[in-house]
Amino acid sequence: MDTNTVRQAPFGSVLTDCMSIAWFRDGKWSAERLEPTAPLPIHPAAHALHYGSSCFEGFKAYRRANGGIHVFRLDRHIERMRQSARLLVLPEPDAAQVTRMVLALVDRCRPDVPEAPGALYLRPVLFGTVPNIGAAGTPTPEACLVVLASPVWDYFAGGLKPLRIYVELSSRTAPHLGMVKTGGNYAAALGPTLAARRDHRADQVLFCPDGKVQETGAANFLLIRDKHILTRCLDTTFLHGVTRDSALTLARDLGYEVSERIFDVDETLRWIADGEAVLAGTAAVLTGVGTLIHQGREYCVGNGDVGPHTRHLRAALIAIQRGESADKFGWLTPV
Ligand code: PLP
Ligand code: COI
Repeated sequence: MDTNTVRQAPFGSVLTDCMSIAWFRDGKWSAERLEPTAPLPIHPAAHALHYGSSCFEGFKAYRRANGGIHVFRLDRHIERMRQSARLLVLPEPDAAQVTRMVLALVDRCRPDVPEAPGALYLRPVLFGTVPNIGAAGTPTPEACLVVLASPVWDYFAGGLKPLRIYVELSSRTAPHLGMVKTGGNYAAALGPTLAARRDHRADQVLFCPDGKVQETGAANFLLIRDKHILTRCLDTTFLHGVTRDSALTLARDLGYEVSERIFDVDETLRWIADGEAVLAGTAAVLTGVGTLIHQGREYCVGNGDVGPHTRHLRAALIAIQRGESADKFGWLTPV
């Protein structure tokens, strides 16, 4: 794989030539196999295509300066995938099997794990395959689990450039499904996201149903001011981000006060007058917000640049991910 060509490519658009795959049939999972990344024989009546029985995960493996490779918070992502599967009544993958699938794939793709600041993005996807268009009210008894891998760099074009975020007062997803990482949630967010991009040159949408701040289309949302972080408390309405959890854990350890509670758009506008706003996600890492767009007005976040707390926390997180500082929370799995 030519690094320069891949580096120019949009996030996730280049896959390694190997994937890991397992099938669920007759009440059990098959042994996993490494196979060439290629189209699968999926029946057009497959449950996932009609009734949306699918979920996925996203996390990264990092290469150290000495060549060692580690996966960041593998167990958390696998647990979230199992939770997504349970909530969608899909066959629940076995944690030990998914771990094996991921580690075998990363091992096979070693040469494709980019050097920092790149990473190998890992994408397990689970979907219902039973060919039955009448099964709207029945869980799929057959499913497929694939782990894909993609060398990636920045998610947002422009790297660390502060983001423009549009405040959207509608929901991203149904209230009980926000914590499920399923494709339908992303499809539901596309309309408002494209409108905000077109009408306001926004990079992302911050969903705030009933004026209460929730999350953006592909990352959680944090406010920071005077060594104090404010973010929404966990509930079923939004994705429980592993990066959010990592940032809060690191921040507490660095002496920040952390408040997890419901807050609204008005309070957000007061915080950003002299504070910082950050998107937290695997793809986004910790990316600073420069502008919030709300009801036809543009609000500068602090002075409009990525703030010092955002830079500090981002650097601390990245240092752990790349093995440049001690893994004091036990977040890394060696490959
Ligand atoms: N919220 C949404 C909607 C996401 O797509 C993501 C990205 O995965 C996140 C939050 C952050 O989750 P994580 O930090 O686990 O990647
Ligand atoms: C991630 O950060 O892993 C995401 O899922 C974001 C994305 C949809 C690329």
